[in-house]
Amino acid sequence: MAKPKTQFVCQNCGTVHSRWAGKCEGCGEWNTIVEEDPMGGIGSGPGKVPKKGRAVTLTALSGETEEAPRIHTGISELDRATGGGFVRGSAVLIGGDPGIGKSTLLMQAAAALSRRGHRIIYVSGEEAVAQVRLRAQRLGAADTEVLLAAETNVEDILATVSEGKRPDLVIIDSIQTLWSDTADSAPGTVTQVRTGVQAMIRFAKQTGAAMVLVGHVTKEGQIAGPRVVEHMVDAVLYFEGDRGHHYRILRTVKNRFGPTDEIGVFEMSDKGLREVTNPSELFLGERNAKSPGAAVFAGMEGTRPVLVEVQALVAATSLGTPRRAVVGWDSSRLAMILAVLEAHCGVRLGQHDVYLNVAGGYRISEPAADMAIASALVSSLAGIALPADHVFFGEISLSGAVRPVSQTAQRLKEAEKLGFSGAMLPATSAELPKGSSARWTMIEDLPDLVSRIAGSVKKLGKQEEDD
Ligand code: TYD
Ligand code: MG
Repeated sequence: MAKPKTQFVCQNCGTVHSRWAGKCEGCGEWNTIVEEDPMGGIGSGPGKVPKKGRAVTLTALSGETEEAPRIHTGISELDRATGGGFVRGSAVLIGGDPGIGKSTLLMQAAAALSRRGHRIIYVSGEEAVAQVRLRAQRLGAADTEVLLAAETNVEDILATVSEGKRPDLVIIDSIQTLWSDTADSAPGTVTQVRTGVQAMIRFAKQTGAAMVLVGHVTKEGQIAGPRVVEHMVDAVLYFEGDRGHHYRILRTVKNRFGPTDEIGVFEMSDKGLREVTNPSELFLGERNAKSPGAAVFAGMEGTRPVLVEVQALVAATSLGTPRRAVVGWDSSRLAMILAVLEAHCGVRLGQHDVYLNVAGGYRISEPAADMAIASALVSSLAGIALPADHVFFGEISLSGAVRPVSQTAQRLKEAEKLGFSGAMLPATSAELPKGSSARWTMIEDLPDLVSRIAGSVKKLGKQEEDD
């Protein structure tokens, strides 16, 4: 059978299909499949005749290794997310929604590195030099020696960065604008993006320059998203945030040279991104502690504790099917907690609308937040405010038991540091910090929690007034 002349590639996930379809089988996205020429791009070229291979020297696992050489930006939130700075000879992908602040962050990083004497090249494929200059002025970076180019052709970019002294860091903004003469597909397609990124990675490995690639997360599927090159780069960071809020989180999802659960927190201001070294203060900023339905969750992001308020509103419904609306948390997890409350504690919410919100537009991914959520729900339903000086954490299982979570000591220490004097935590928690004057309330199971909120929380509240 003859080889098909063309193939159909999903621009979202890169799955290859033999014929066009409206929906991609690989990722379930609609209208993302585009016809591409399989002869172009990586692995293609004139050398179709297999050449004789050259044997490489095999080596042992043991032996001398060096710590990866890094360049520090001095922006500590960025350095934290990258695992201690950009690694020379590596490629980092920074993905995020358009307009979230990727170019701003990288311009600030470029300026900071340039001030430290590094040679930085910023290649913008989206904005003209004048626009980039304007942004640099706004960020107070215009006086630095960052070298600028507005170019999208891969071969021209390579020729430019190869000229003169080797750069320490090259920023490509963005990969979706890259196009190469060697690939036949249209710019922005998976083949073009992969070819361009491959060429940039090769340059980084050959010269030892660090390479930062910007990728827009695309929903429409008209252009290839950053997912299609995630496997090729050494580290993948996503820049997230809510447009309604000023804070932004740089989250590591892959890192060949460091931990993957770190976050960097920034706040967007009129002079660019400002580092937020204590995120808890940001998320607890506008707290109204006296109202029912609010609980402070002591969470962890990697090695760093983050305190955040969860808010619940439980109100009698006028609809046949009550509403469940969740912002910042998993809605199926909420359904699970509602079911456990109903099955084991007799808390009936079938006639109530339930709204759940995580303050500040933050997103919680830890199951450790179960207890804070359950407390907020019960508190709102009963109209009893939770003790304002308490934090909550613990995972709830389907049997109603409260299970211990990791890093108890760090969570409690952070809570104490921010002025909380008590916590409700799983009874089986280990590693409690010693010599602390705080009150730990050990919770056995969910009925225990509910009865404490209904009864003893009032007592705790009184105690607090007595103090
Ligand atoms: P940008 O870095 O261009 O986003 P991306 O490269 O991810 O597409 O940032 C765009 C937004 O940031 C824009 O809406 C304006 C805002 N912004 C500020 O609020 N303050 C600033 O100092 C700058 C430079 C941008
Ligand atoms: Mg940009």
